[in-house]
Amino acid sequence: MCTSKRFDKSYKIISNKEICAGYFELKVKADTISKYCYPGQFFMIDILEVFLRRPISIHCVEKGTISFLYSVVGKGTKILSEMGRSSGRVISRRGEGKDGCDEIKMLGPLGRGYGLTSNASSKFLSRVSFDSYGKKSYQKSGDIDFNPVIVAGGTGIASVHFLATKLSRKGILYYGVRSKKDLLCLDKFEKMGWKIVVSTEDGSKGYKGYITDVLSENLKDVDTLFACGPVPMLKKVLQIAKEKNVKGFVCLEKKMACGIGNCQGCAVKINGENKLTCKDGPVFEIKDVEL
Ligand SMILES: Cc1cc2nc3c(=O)[nH]c(=O)nc-3n(C[C@H](O)[C@H](O)[C@H](O)COP(=O)(O)OP(=O)(O)OC[C@H]3O[C@@H](n4cnc5c(N)ncnc54)[C@H](O)[C@@H]3O)c2cc1C
Ligand code: FES
Repeated sequence: MCTSKRFDKSYKIISNKEICAGYFELKVKADTISKYCYPGQFFMIDILEVFLRRPISIHCVEKGTISFLYSVVGKGTKILSEMGRSSGRVISRRGEGKDGCDEIKMLGPLGRGYGLTSNASSKFLSRVSFDSYGKKSYQKSGDIDFNPVIVAGGTGIASVHFLATKLSRKGILYYGVRSKKDLLCLDKFEKMGWKIVVSTEDGSKGYKGYITDVLSENLKDVDTLFACGPVPMLKKVLQIAKEKNVKGFVCLEKKMACGIGNCQGCAVKINGENKLTCKDGPVFEIKDVEL
C-alpha cells in the first residue's frame, strides 16, 4: 500500500501561538504539500541550534495550510516555540523569508498513517471508512459496523485530531491527561460532533485516574480503535483491545534521529519482526504490536 510523497523544504510560518501554558500550535503555508498529508504522518522539523530534527505529527490540514500541536519539553521544542514569533532573532537555519516572514525547514510528510499499514487485513480495512482519505483503497467500504473510538493520552491528541477530521463517522474520544490545564482541542472535537470522555490524574476534570480504566469498562467488540499516547497508556490499550477482540491502530512515538529509516534507532517488534517506527509506522495495527 502506498505512502505519500515527501519533501525537504522551507515553509512560511503563518502563526506559532501558545494556545495554553506550555502548548503551541504552529501553522505553515503549504499549498501543494498539504494535499499529500495523511492522518498519523509526521514531519521532521529543523530547529536552529539543535543537531537533530524533531518529529512532530500533523495536527490539521486545511485551506493550503498544515498545523502542528506540540508541547515544550526540552531544548528543541523551546526554541521551536520562539520561531515565527516577533522575537527579532533569526529563527531558522534559512533565516527570515524573502518577504520578511519567518520560514521553517521541514522534511515530510513521513511514515505510514492510520489505515496505511502495509499488513492491515483487507477484511478489517473494509470496515473503516474515510472521507476524502485513501478513497482508492477503501471506496467499497461498508461502514455499517464502524464505531470509531479514539484514545488519546497527552499530546497524542495532536495526531488523532487530524484523523477525526477525516473519518466518515463521529465516535467517542477517550482523552487522558495529567491535569485540567493539559486538556487540548476539546472544542474542536465537540464542534465535529464527537462524544468526549475525559480523565485527569489529579481529578481536576472528568474521571480521576487513567483513561484506560474508563475505556476498559466501555469498549465493545463492534468498536474500531485508534490510539496515540505514551507507552504505558498504549500497553494498556493493547491489552484491553486484545481481551475484547477489538481491532484498530496505535500510533507509536519512539525517539527518532533521522525519521526516514537510515539510523535504525526506532526499531519496534511488530508481529515478531523488527520494524522501524519512522518508516514502517508510526501507525501499526493493534494485533501486530508488542510493547
Ligand atoms: C512520530 C512522532 C510524532 C510526534 N508528534 C508530536 C506532536 O504532535 N506533539 C508533541 O508535542 N510531541 C510530539 N512528539 C514528541 C516530540 O518529538 C518530542 O517531544 C520532541 O522531539 C522533544 O524535543 P526537545 O528537543 O524539546 O526535547 P529533548 O531535550 O530532546 O527531550 C526532552 C524530553 O522529551 C522526551 N522526548 C524526546 N524525544 C521524544 C520523542 N520522540 N517522543 C517522546 N518523547 C521524547 C525526552 O525523553 C525528554 O524527557 C512526536 C514524536 C514522534 C516520534
Ligand atoms: S529514526 Fe532513523 S531509522 Fe527510524
